Amino acid sequence: MKKFVVSTNTSYDILIGKDIMKDAGKLIRKKLEPCRASIVTDMTVNSIYAQVLVTSLIEAGFQVSKIVFPSGEHSKNLTTYGNILEALADEGLTRTDVIIALGGGVVGDLSGFAAATYMRGIKYIQVPTTYIAAIDASVGGKTGINLLSGKNLAGAFWQPSMVICDYKTFDTLPSEKILDGAAEAIKHGVVSDERLIEKVLQGDYEYVIERCVSIKKSIVEADERDLGLRQLLNFGHTIGHGIEKLSSYSISHGHAVAKGMVAEARAAEAMDLTPKGVSKALSDILERAGFDLSIPFSPDDIYKFALLDKKISGDKISIVAPDSIGKCHLHKISVPELKKFIQLGLEP
Ligand SMILES: NC(=O)c1ccc[n+]([C@@H]2O[C@H](COP(=O)([O-])OP(=O)(O)OC[C@H]3O[C@@H](n4cnc5c(N)ncnc54)[C@H](O)[C@@H]3O)[C@@H](O)[C@H]2O)c1
Repeated sequence: MKKFVVSTNTSYDILIGKDIMKDAGKLIRKKLEPCRASIVTDMTVNSIYAQVLVTSLIEAGFQVSKIVFPSGEHSKNLTTYGNILEALADEGLTRTDVIIALGGGVVGDLSGFAAATYMRGIKYIQVPTTYIAAIDASVGGKTGINLLSGKNLAGAFWQPSMVICDYKTFDTLPSEKILDGAAEAIKHGVVSDERLIEKVLQGDYEYVIERCVSIKKSIVEADERDLGLRQLLNFGHTIGHGIEKLSSYSISHGHAVAKGMVAEARAAEAMDLTPKGVSKALSDILERAGFDLSIPFSPDDIYKFALLDKKISGDKISIVAPDSIGKCHLHKISVPELKKFIQLGLEP
């Protein structure tokens, strides 16, 4: 088992290993006194993994309850969030108890936001079960939900107390969900480590999780609140979030980010912020991984959603421009220029 320590306003361990979920209770007990532990999960993950976690927590002395909601991005909304808060109150969870997020990025984002706001903040532990959650969503404390107007528009920065990542759970992931994780892992590679990309293409999960967590750890430690450096990890997301929302989430997060990365790199190239050839190199990598990079929406429609991007401050937005595969920089453009940026990205 590999351990990383993230030092933000609170410090926490990320434990990564194969088949470690059955030991979760013992691992958590080393950090927390026995208390009430409310597992929050979705229906799919509940049917496959909840029992192992429940048993392990009970054996370690925790008093366990469970909150289950329907699987998928459509649940990441105010209704599910409200239901989770009400269920926590019904269970009598107090400020010394803990929420355990068992599942993918949707479960982690919702549970983390509930933890950040229930009784003005209680502890939560991430137990990621998707590739995307293991390498990205479970680390760094960004929590939140979607509003009708767009992705992740309500949320909080709230760091977990621990992350327990058992990548044996990938055995049951559909191939489309493996690809979702590969997109975010390739993004980490484009932002800061070209060599990582080959490992993603080889499907070397152990290496990729450890390297992505290590990259994200350093970035989050330097910029916990997403005011500068951390925005590099938004590469592909300004256009990607628009694609996700316009498709009513039928194009999933990683697939939308893959399309968004190529479009944003192409636009940065057209604006002379990125050397010629980088967007082609990136699209070759993503096609090798198995992505369809077509974008079935107009620049105007994507622009409408991009206007609600959290990254806009005042009349400026930071875009991410690759210098090469393995290094990117931030560049501020005005909101009217964003329209042109999206058009350039979608031009054939
Ligand atoms: N907070 C962050 O920093 C951050 C970073 C990246 C992505 N995200 C968010 O994460 C979400 C996408 O993550 P996701 O794809 O993990 O979403 P998800 O939680 O919806 O999981 C995807 C699907 O896989 C199923 N599933 C989960 N684990 C499984 C397993 N081991 N075996 C079989 N099926 C399993 C789920 O039931 C769900 O249907 C998006 O909402 C995105 O915005 C957040």
